[in-house]
Formats: sequence, C-alpha cells, structure tokens
Amino acid sequence: MAAVTVENVSMNEQDKMKAAAARKAIDYVPEGAIIGVGTGSTANFFIDELARIKDRIEGAVASSQATADRLKAIGIQVFDLNGVGELPVYVDGCDEINHYLHMIKGGGGALTREKIVAAVAREFVCICDASKLVDVMGKFPLPVEVIPFGAGQVIKKFEARGYKPVLRLDADGKEVRTDENNFVVDLHLERIDHPQELAEDLINTVGVVEHGLFLNMVDKVIVGDPNGPRVMTNANK
Ligand code: A5P
Repeated sequence: MAAVTVENVSMNEQDKMKAAAARKAIDYVPEGAIIGVGTGSTANFFIDELARIKDRIEGAVASSQATADRLKAIGIQVFDLNGVGELPVYVDGCDEINHYLHMIKGGGGALTREKIVAAVAREFVCICDASKLVDVMGKFPLPVEVIPFGAGQVIKKFEARGYKPVLRLDADGKEVRTDENNFVVDLHLERIDHPQELAEDLINTVGVVEHGLFLNMVDKVIVGDPNGPRVMTNANK
C-alpha cells in the first residue's frame, strides 16, 4: 500500500481513511458531555482527535483498559460506567459491517465491554475504513468471550456445530485474557448467512459471556472513503 503523509504523520491509505472517519466523528460529540470511547486502531485515531477538543468535553467512559490508559495519557478524565448518568454517544470501530449495518467486533478482545457501553449510549457511531464493508459477514473470525472454567467443553460444542473454533493465544502460546479475565474463542465461519440465529445460539450456550455480533446496534457509520468520509444512517433503529 502506498505511503502518504497527512499532517506530518506517515500513514498508509487505510490509516488515512480511519483517521478521516475519526475526525468526522468529532461532529457527533456534544459540548460538555461524557462520551463512550471504543477500542482498537480506529478508536485510537478518534482519541487523537479528542485530544484536540478535550477541553470541550467533561470526560469519557472507556470500553477497555487500553483505551482508558490512552485517554488518561492525553488528560481526559475517565469515568466508571456505573457512575455516569447518560452517555449521549459511543464511538468505536468494527471488524466487519454489512449492508444491514450488522457488525462483527472484538478483534481486539474488548467485545463484552464494548457491547455494554454501546448498549448504554443513546447513539452508537461506528468509524471504519472502506475495507470493513462486506456483503456477507464471517470472513473475519467471530470472537466469542468464554468463561475459562470448562472452556474446552464449550469449544467441543462449537466444533460439533461446525463453528470451527480456535482458542485465541498470544505470541507465547498462552491463552489471551480479556479485561474481564476470560478467554476468547474465534469462530472461523467464513460466512454468516443467518446472524440472528447464530447470535441466539451463541448467547444461549452456557459458558459464553458474549459474542462479537453487534446486530442492529449501530446508529451511524462513518466510512473513511478515499473521496472523504461518508455517513450512513441505520434506518431500522
Ligand atoms: C476491539 O475489541 C474491536 O471490537 C475493535 O473495535 C475492532 O476490532 C476494530 O479494530 P480496528 O479499528 O483496529 O480495526
């Protein structure tokens, strides 16, 4: 991918699109608000943008420890989700998004906290680059957060259902732990033709904490197209 220079930072085209979407998302941040902030490389571009306007907001709720650390490092106050009245907006990236604006999230393992914060926020604004748009979800392995106790049995059930589960490991071969100290199992489904049924099946499996299907949760999607950011609104919400 060709390297380009944006505001003295060398970025590839995909990063440039992520940064453009993140910049546009600032339009949805109300003055004086406490906002929800997501996790991942696109959300990190949004945090960079927040740094420029940090005096215009009261603070943020973070969807992961990594995001909380990043927000604090730029001087934004981080609030506990239990202590805030309302969240006008939650801004986060995604791993895949289809034409119905259903998404896969959790590539960074933060899916459970992300879904909790998104469910509390009045408006969920997704920011992404054009590579995240798909006709059919599932090429990106679907993350599922699983309680460590008996996780092997849950994986066996997934295998029997043809979900092609793989326990997520780190570079040292150790199980990746979420911020909630759980495991992540990635389902290599290749295509998800019936996301609603799959979501119900996963959430009804004992031992599963949450899955990375975010169905009809997003309100707006900002796609950082090469021609400039494009905003899509979810007509079904
Ligand atoms: C974190 O767990 C994920 O849900 C991220 O929001 C998602 O993986 C998008 O990440 P990038 O912005 O790094 O692609």
